[in-house]
Amino acid sequence: MLTGAETKQGTLYGHRHAMGAAPSRAQGLVSVPHEGTQYDKKIAEFFDIFNEDTGRPELYYGYMAGFLRQAEPSFDSTTCAKKKIAVDFGCGTGWLTKRLPSLGFSDVHGIDTSPDMLKLAFSKTPNNLISKGIVRYNNKVPASILGQCELVTMVHVHYHFQPFENLQNNLFGAVSSMLAPNGHAILVGCPSDHIADTPEHYQNCIHMDDVPPAILETASDPFILGDEDGYIALSCLPRFKLKEGTPMKVTFNALDKNGKPCVASLMDTYWSDKALVEAAQGAGLELIGRENLMWRSHPNAYMMMHFKKSTHARSLHL
Ligand SMILES: C[S@@+](CC[C@H](N)C(=O)[O-])C[C@H]1O[C@@H](n2cnc3c(N)ncnc32)[C@H](O)[C@@H]1O
Repeated sequence: MLTGAETKQGTLYGHRHAMGAAPSRAQGLVSVPHEGTQYDKKIAEFFDIFNEDTGRPELYYGYMAGFLRQAEPSFDSTTCAKKKIAVDFGCGTGWLTKRLPSLGFSDVHGIDTSPDMLKLAFSKTPNNLISKGIVRYNNKVPASILGQCELVTMVHVHYHFQPFENLQNNLFGAVSSMLAPNGHAILVGCPSDHIADTPEHYQNCIHMDDVPPAILETASDPFILGDEDGYIALSCLPRFKLKEGTPMKVTFNALDKNGKPCVASLMDTYWSDKALVEAAQGAGLELIGRENLMWRSHPNAYMMMHFKKSTHARSLHL
């Protein structure tokens, strides 16, 4: 992995690929690079409990509907005659995929590389959406929808793309290649300015070796702060700027419906909001909206970015 230390910013951001390389169209399905095995059955079940307990689906869906309605009132309509295609990229348990038809999309694809996530998503989607072919799940992008989608969502998925070139080409490039001209893309993540101030239910941690020595000197002993793998919660350290591409361990906790505490952790990657916007722009997506989201009374718990595939989009700069 490239870290910010190994990658001079100028070179990193100067590396503009017009678009992600066109993926293979073998068998009518377009492969996305495999993420690995961390999203197994146990993690899939955990995320189902986590979403239920935190109410994140309702929070994100509400904001997303608002973003889309503001950009294009037709997104509000479920009676639109035109077939509208949407992709939930990195759909996980499918909580969003199964809600997209209610935003007026008649052909919805949940794409994910984890078979266990896909199986759970499938089992949680109302049968009438599956049997009518309104919602479909796959581990590859159907070639027939390339360049046809009006919406692609990326909810907490960008952390799995590194180094920067993969973020730009394999995530934003892939999204851009799915979108129709003027299509919309919505990303949800953790706002990089608030990476250390997250709500209790998720904590971002980095390895003690990635903490600058000057910061460690002002903190408690790393052997007290660190977990069994040497990861320290950023909320326990004085604030400092993380390097792009720093590996992160994210720890999650939730209560199941019987009130039993459940915990999980995953490895991912830190990208600043600026890096995300740069990577998206490099793939032909312009930022047209951005907002930090409040979770219950916790400000800046999440953030949503709204991109449009258009050469004429009014672009926001961070
Ligand atoms: C943190 S989970 C988020 C799931 C869901 N979007 C949500 O908000 O609950 C990240 C998901 O991205 C999927 N993923 C990782 N790399 C991927 C890739 N290259 N293509 C598609 N999905 C990927 C994982 O399998 C996992 O289900």
